[in-house]
Amino acid sequence: MTEDVYRLKSPEGVETELPVRKGTVGPDVVDIARLYRDQRVFTYDPGFVSTGSCESDITYIDGEEGILMYRGYPVEQLAANSSFIEVSYLLLNGELPTEQQLSEFDNTIRMHTMLNDGMLSFFKGFRYNAHPMAMLSAVVGSMSAYYHEEMDSSNPLHRDIFAHRILAKLPTIAAAAYKLNSGQPFIYPRNDLNFTENLLHMLFAVPAEPYEIDPVAAEALDLLFILHADHEQNCSTSTVRMAGSSGANPYSAIAAGISALWGPAHGGANEAVLNMLEEIGDVSQIGKYVEKAKDKNDAFRLMGFGHRVYKNFDPRATIIREMAHKVLKQLDRKDTPMFDLALELEQVALQDDYFVEKNLYPNVDFYSGIIYRALGIPTSMFTVMFALGRSVGWTAHWREMISDPSGKIARPRQLYTGPVARDYTAIEER
Ligand code: CMC
Repeated sequence: MTEDVYRLKSPEGVETELPVRKGTVGPDVVDIARLYRDQRVFTYDPGFVSTGSCESDITYIDGEEGILMYRGYPVEQLAANSSFIEVSYLLLNGELPTEQQLSEFDNTIRMHTMLNDGMLSFFKGFRYNAHPMAMLSAVVGSMSAYYHEEMDSSNPLHRDIFAHRILAKLPTIAAAAYKLNSGQPFIYPRNDLNFTENLLHMLFAVPAEPYEIDPVAAEALDLLFILHADHEQNCSTSTVRMAGSSGANPYSAIAAGISALWGPAHGGANEAVLNMLEEIGDVSQIGKYVEKAKDKNDAFRLMGFGHRVYKNFDPRATIIREMAHKVLKQLDRKDTPMFDLALELEQVALQDDYFVEKNLYPNVDFYSGIIYRALGIPTSMFTVMFALGRSVGWTAHWREMISDPSGKIARPRQLYTGPVARDYTAIEER
């Protein structure tokens, strides 16, 4: 069928028909797998701007329309009606749970929250001011030392247990990192609390006095986790898939994903936004910083602006913006000047030709930090919060990748621009 193939003719006249594959929704995909065999050429696409790396039925994004769906459900509907634990079940299993399935899943996650006590001693080895993302990546990587012999990736039950452990134990590790930074004793999880309440408890409770969980804080965090839960083949998820494609221990693949998330162009942007707002300091300085962001000779970028896929608006940012209003009002926080500064910066940038022409809009990270800060979470923990939400997306993608019988090790090619073959010269002749 003519409409189902792409015809390619090399300069030498060799013809190849490349099949066009159709998803359930979204643009068609040209399958170039046979291109090298037929034409002896590779494709070149740094940053994977036009390249699909896998087939997936987990998450769909339409960047032009600002659509994000998990397993077909619009993120707005999930944000309004669901919980992070229910969304996690959906991402991992493909369907929304029944009441009984949800209760069993919730209970399973609660029963996996404790760490092997030996793991806590890792924290004694970290410097008191170690970045929590570094600790999270290191300790999650070390889970592969605890769960290697009993982790058979071809066994569906083992894959389930892995997913449960990642989801349940990451908050405990994150909270331990925070406690190390703040010089407070580690707080053990409480399985009578739900996922988000338990995290707040482990972060903020101290042995000396009772800690009361603020329902506004729990609701806001849960919403942020839902919005961060998955985002198809982003940098960290692709890293997890790539590391996992070699058959590596999946805990170490997740550690690789955490490392990828840390960068300021990815999850590290939420920390960078707050640092940027602090540096700007006052609305009177906005013009100066917007000019810096536009200056090609200045490396400064408006953090929290722009996205590889969203070229209209980031639906997550719209929801978070509203939540930021609610949280600041309900918690009666004095962070309003920071929020006002962010709102003003957004307005100035949205009306600026540079940002309009390049389709640069606030992304998920622009407002999330303002909420974290209002909840008393320090800036260095912001990307850790992102990782806790995204952990379920990583495990869902790892499971999808590893269960695919046609799966291959991820191994891109390159355009070589180094020296051509030359003879080794003895050191005295150089
Ligand atoms: N401020 C100023 N200029 C920008 C910005 C920005 N935040 N983002 C992109 N541009 C310009 C960039 O200079 C380039 O201009 P030109 O075409 O003249 O060279 C053009 O817009 C396209 O940018 P790009 O870097 O080629 O686009 P990309 O798709 O490779 O990068 C991005 C996307 C998110 C890395 C980038 O927009 C950026 O660095 N934003 C700031 C960091 C940030 O907020 N990251 C969080 C992303 S959302 C959370 C997540 O998914 O992790």
